[in-house]
Amino acid sequence: MRYETIVGRTKDDLDKFGVEASGYIGKHIVGTGEDAHLTTKVYLDLLKPHVILVAGKRGSGKSYSAGAIIEEFCMLPDKFKQKIAFVVFDPVGIYWSMKVPNDEQLKTLTEWGLQPKDFNNIKIYVPESQIAEYEKAEIPVDGTISIALNELTAEDLVLAFNFERTSELAVALEKNFNQLLKAGKSFSIEDLIDLISSDKRLDKGTKDTLVNFLELLSQWEVIKKEGTKVRDLVKPGHVIVFDFSRLKSQEVRTLVAGLVSREIMHQRILARKEEEIAKITGEKSKAKFPITWIIYEEAHGFVPNDGETSSSADIKRIAKEGREPGVGLMVITQQPNKVHSDVLSQSDIVISFRLTSKDDLQALHRVHQTYMQEELEKMINKLPRVPGASLILDDVLEKIFLVNIRPRLSHHAGSTAVII
Ligand SMILES: Nc1ncnc2c1ncn2[C@@H]1O[C@H](COP(=O)(O)OP(=O)(O)OP(=O)(O)O)[C@@H](O)[C@H]1O
Ligand SMILES: [Mg+2]
Repeated sequence: MRYETIVGRTKDDLDKFGVEASGYIGKHIVGTGEDAHLTTKVYLDLLKPHVILVAGKRGSGKSYSAGAIIEEFCMLPDKFKQKIAFVVFDPVGIYWSMKVPNDEQLKTLTEWGLQPKDFNNIKIYVPESQIAEYEKAEIPVDGTISIALNELTAEDLVLAFNFERTSELAVALEKNFNQLLKAGKSFSIEDLIDLISSDKRLDKGTKDTLVNFLELLSQWEVIKKEGTKVRDLVKPGHVIVFDFSRLKSQEVRTLVAGLVSREIMHQRILARKEEEIAKITGEKSKAKFPITWIIYEEAHGFVPNDGETSSSADIKRIAKEGREPGVGLMVITQQPNKVHSDVLSQSDIVISFRLTSKDDLQALHRVHQTYMQEELEKMINKLPRVPGASLILDDVLEKIFLVNIRPRLSHHAGSTAVII
């Protein structure tokens, strides 16, 4: 008889692998209120990529838990770790602190029989123009991120600028952008501005508006003539964090997230083919691009339920089709109701902390309908009011667990600001 729970692991995999290639994320909570106590360990399956929704109100433990899952990946034995990578889109700027041990919660860690630890395979990437700001704030940075303009599509820009698809602005932008793209060479925002400015078919108003939008985009110095290659950036065994916290433009964040997500999916489709060929021929696979888990913090900003951003189509595609090539997702949000339903409906694991809004509880219920809505609400309301108390809905096992997420080994930079 096994006592451990491995969330997301099929019975076949459990028989074959036991707890191998899984991560220790917490302990079962038994009883309610004053009587609540912790019992056996709960693990998370890391063998296969999943679509995980992490929901809960402000300060309930979402980012902290995502960090605990990343730590477990970092501590996997090499034979597993070398096949996986994590990519984090971090608009809040908190994941860099995983490079520092969690001495702050030493007492809690000791109670859990754990010790503070730092992780040096976390790699922080920031926009080049902001590197000095990070250095000044003493935040360790490993590299810079820039996107080559010719890797984007005209549609990406139309979405980023929030133009109506059939508007004069969108059509004019598309025509000029595609003209440069067809030439087959890399080009800068300035080249695009020059081309638009000299386009005789356009009236002055259209030109001025487009130039304004493009100049704003160029100010962030993220979209450039030459860009970082995703295939060189995402390395097996590494956690690549795109820290966008000092980048105020949500449009640029979604442009980067969209392109990087699309490219990861593309690279994995190619790698998967190589892996399949290797399986048939019995030779070693030439594929180098690892199975990748992508984490979107504040996911409603990347794949909203109302409207479209330049990253939404790519995230929805990964949610629907990522299983086979090996791209997993973790979408973190305070408001599941604001995340696109295509992503919610594909989640096979939900980690939910306290939620109070009816709409958000309904959104959770739509993901996982094994239980009645009222029952689910009751369970969430009954969660002990201690940090890390969560409800985990597991679609693979068709079960719901009450789990206290374990304390973090590495420092969590997202704690509440206080005035003393
Ligand atoms: N499992 C846990 N064990 C111990 N402390 C925890 C745990 N989970 C959360 N905390 C505490 O709660 C604080 C808030 O957690 P966290 O930053 O993850 O909130 P959040 O849900 O991401 O909030 P927001 O929506 O505002 O980003 C942490 O700084 C930590 O002190
Ligand atoms: Mg958070």
